[in-house]
Amino acid sequence: MRRAIKDGRYQVAMAIIFGVFLTFLVLALGMIINDHFKKFILYENLQNSPLNAFLPFYMSDISKSSSNYRCFSSNPPRFNDSNIVYDSRLTWVAPRDIWHSMSDEELLWRASMVPHLVEYPFDRVSKVAFMFLTKGRLPLGPLWEMFFKGHEGLFTIYLHTSPEFAHEPPESSKVRWGDITMIDAERRLLANALLDFSNERFILLSETCIPLFNFTTIYNYLINSNHSFLNSFDDPRNIGRGRYNPRMSPAITLHDWRKGSQWFEASRKLVINIISDVVYYPIFRKHCMPPCYVDEHYFPTFVNMICPNLTSNRTVTWTDWSRGGSHPVMFNRVDVTEGFLERIRYESNCTYNGENSNVCFLFARKFHPSTLQPLLRIAPSLLGFND
Ligand SMILES: *[C@@H]1O[C@H](CO)[C@@H](O)[C@H](O)[C@H]1NC(C)=O
Ligand SMILES: *[C@@H]1O[C@H](CO)[C@@H](O)[C@H](O)[C@H]1NC(C)=O
Ligand SMILES: *[C@@H]1O[C@H](CO)[C@@H](O)[C@H](O)[C@H]1NC(C)=O
Ligand SMILES: *[C@@H]1O[C@H](CO)[C@@H](O)[C@H](O)[C@H]1NC(C)=O
Ligand SMILES: *[C@@H]1O[C@H](CO)[C@@H](O)[C@H](O)[C@H]1NC(C)=O
Ligand SMILES: *[C@@H]1O[C@H](CO)[C@@H](O)[C@H](O)[C@H]1NC(C)=O
Repeated sequence: MRRAIKDGRYQVAMAIIFGVFLTFLVLALGMIINDHFKKFILYENLQNSPLNAFLPFYMSDISKSSSNYRCFSSNPPRFNDSNIVYDSRLTWVAPRDIWHSMSDEELLWRASMVPHLVEYPFDRVSKVAFMFLTKGRLPLGPLWEMFFKGHEGLFTIYLHTSPEFAHEPPESSKVRWGDITMIDAERRLLANALLDFSNERFILLSETCIPLFNFTTIYNYLINSNHSFLNSFDDPRNIGRGRYNPRMSPAITLHDWRKGSQWFEASRKLVINIISDVVYYPIFRKHCMPPCYVDEHYFPTFVNMICPNLTSNRTVTWTDWSRGGSHPVMFNRVDVTEGFLERIRYESNCTYNGENSNVCFLFARKFHPSTLQPLLRIAPSLLGFND
């Protein structure tokens, strides 16, 4: 009898110990998984989640790891069940739930798949993927909101935030801008955007970027272009060819070496090529160290080697380097006038689909948060928003 009770207690104790052990195991596993897997939060309704309003949300769990990835899509999840359309089609046309647990390796593999049937078995309306690479919040969010309003279904917004993106652009050896983590983030953004089969054009932007035209104009310009707008040129100076590392040869020669702005726009076809690269990317990882900046050389060199005819070799994002120094000009409240924007919009010469054009730039940087008020005031008349 006593022995039976003792046995019983023994079993209970064992059960408790086992239970505690299991709990620890689950917690430990959870931590490991959490660390390795991407977090995705999807906002589908612009009205419910204005671009500037997600700040408190995503600032809260920013960590050093590169796994802070969020996606904001133009197709609404509202937090109201009766509004959610359960359409099984959507899960393969575009991921409904952007929270996915793929590792970078899995994500790139999944995104590299290309349909071989020419006809889409669904009504495909080409979308433009706006991919924001930011250090935190989007101070000019209200302007972008104004820009996107009324064009739901024609765009998707992706946001990749990391405090590491706070560094200033290159031309200065002090900064860590140009770190390989930047390219990793860009490839991750591109791969995620590829998962949506309707995304046809992909534009990379920073939090200091502004649109120079209304949505319709920018959409048509990009969708109808026969070329991507990935800046690629041969700079014979030290800050160009001088950054070439002979250890990259024979795979990459000085003849192949190119430079270009980090802020590119690319077609789906080019993006698939970019994220599928397993040959040149590892070489850059290994041999492009400061003063070589990966973000200024990898994409321009890659596109020059693999598919030079796909790019116009120019960028559609205007930047002012005219004041010299190692950083482009940051514009403040007083700089923003109609005349100034008008000049950026129309006073350049370039070719578009083989024809001369004076509309060469669709976006501009760098705009300080203090420019928001003047921009919001000018935008409706000048940029034709809200019409
Ligand atoms: C959900 O949306 C439906 C229709 O859009 C509305 O009638 C209903 O009141 C909403 N429910 C809640 C809890 O907001
Ligand atoms: C690429 O463009 C050049 C002219 O710019 C042309 O000669 C060549 O045939 C093109 N190549 C392809 C593959 O389209
Ligand atoms: C861009 O430059 C490459 C050479 O780097 C060239 O082959 C290609 O034709 C150029 N693209 C256009 C549209 O001129
Ligand atoms: C662009 O071309 C027009 C005429 O072709 C010329 O008058 C103008 O000065 C050019 N602008 C720039 C910035 O080169
Ligand atoms: C652009 O490409 C389309 C389809 O490939 C072609 O029909 C059109 O002529 C091209 N336009 C220019 C200006 O090259
Ligand atoms: C967009 O801007 C263009 C000029 O760039 C203008 O012709 C058009 O009317 C504008 N559209 C809307 C909807 O405001």
